[in-house]
Amino acid sequence: MAELKYISGFGNECASEDPRCPGSLPEGQNNPQVCPYNLYAEQLSGSAFTCPRSTNKRSWLYRILPSVSHKPFESIDQGHVTHNWDEVDPDPNQLRWKPFEIPKASQKKVDFVSGLHTLCGAGDIRSNNGLAVHIFLCNASMGDRCFYNSDGDFLIVPQKGKLLIYTEFGKMLVQPNEICVIQRGMRFSVDVFEETRGYILEVYGIHFELPDLGPIGANGLANPRDFLIPVAWYEDRQVPGGYTVINKYQGKLFAAKQDVSPFNVVAWHGNYTPYKYNLENFMVINSVAFDHADPSIFTVLTAKSLRPGVAIADFVIFPPRWGVADKTFRPPYYHRNCMSEFMGLIRGHYEAKQGGFLPGGGSLHSTMTPHGPDADCFEKASKAKLAPERIADGTMAFMFESSLSLAVTKWGLKTSRCLDENYYKCWEPLKSHFTPSSRNPTEPN
Ligand SMILES: [Fe+2]
Repeated sequence: MAELKYISGFGNECASEDPRCPGSLPEGQNNPQVCPYNLYAEQLSGSAFTCPRSTNKRSWLYRILPSVSHKPFESIDQGHVTHNWDEVDPDPNQLRWKPFEIPKASQKKVDFVSGLHTLCGAGDIRSNNGLAVHIFLCNASMGDRCFYNSDGDFLIVPQKGKLLIYTEFGKMLVQPNEICVIQRGMRFSVDVFEETRGYILEVYGIHFELPDLGPIGANGLANPRDFLIPVAWYEDRQVPGGYTVINKYQGKLFAAKQDVSPFNVVAWHGNYTPYKYNLENFMVINSVAFDHADPSIFTVLTAKSLRPGVAIADFVIFPPRWGVADKTFRPPYYHRNCMSEFMGLIRGHYEAKQGGFLPGGGSLHSTMTPHGPDADCFEKASKAKLAPERIADGTMAFMFESSLSLAVTKWGLKTSRCLDENYYKCWEPLKSHFTPSSRNPTEPN
């Protein structure tokens, strides 16, 4: 595969022409009477026309045929995609899943869309307020099928196997330890190269932003220039009656046939694009004296609610870093949270659990459900000598944290058969160390 090119910068106004058609972007206007190369002009609006300039998102696409050139959409099998948050009764327990099983290619071909499984979520698609967490489990490329989501943005976290993603804006290669965001309405098709697995955070009707940095200053966490946007690439490919466009609309899947590849955009400009980001570029900030900063210091992207400081969902990572805090219990603290915390593991071993939380699995600690280090981790960390130490080398855990109270789907609780019934047992050995007659804590080793 020839190396792909990208434009850099989060949310920038970009312009890109496929080099086979120099001058394909109109000069000085968006809608000439006839476009260069006799292309069609089409606007893709990712925000209301009237949004303030700081949040206004749109792109102009110059394409061989407009995307309206398709037969009518018809309902198709929903597979395991759902937005029914009442399938099963609520469950406040700490939940943990073993690695979600990928179907074997030798048994059944499953592509990115047919391999979508909704695990949990909350809110309402029609009022643009909510989110869903999906797991994708696939072993085949989409071929002459593409997908677009009318409901919201997909933040895609590949865990096993790389994704070659064709989009209307160009091609992106996204490997484990990278993420990408495909925003609402953008058509894309995924090629895979092996049995492939990953996580998706879908937010309804809002877009991800970089978090404000406050006293951190102008630089740090995920820096804008490390976000990469594909460059224009087109194919003028006829597929008479044979190309399938799949649409998720109000939570349901629909399909329409068309005669051409949808990746027929010769040039585009605008600030509404797909993008990818390598998690290794995250500049980690942490305590260098004592105690913990809250995990919000690890926020890569946030999808804000209308309440100041409260996210519909934050995407948070726990990257390799130094632990140097003195006189401090260094693993994550015991915690109850008004937010919901879904965690996944891309690779390695998460520091607060000695086993059981494995790459490709997950956990959900729901609103006000207690959680924290397992007993073994507590004992070790309470006694550990506090020298500077590397934490999480070779590891990348992440969290989707939401202000919404998440419902787990029937697939999540039952059909997937990955729920770990013994999760609660990791805290059972926790014992009292209370010494009522002495205030002096036990000296660490
Ligand atoms: Fe927590």
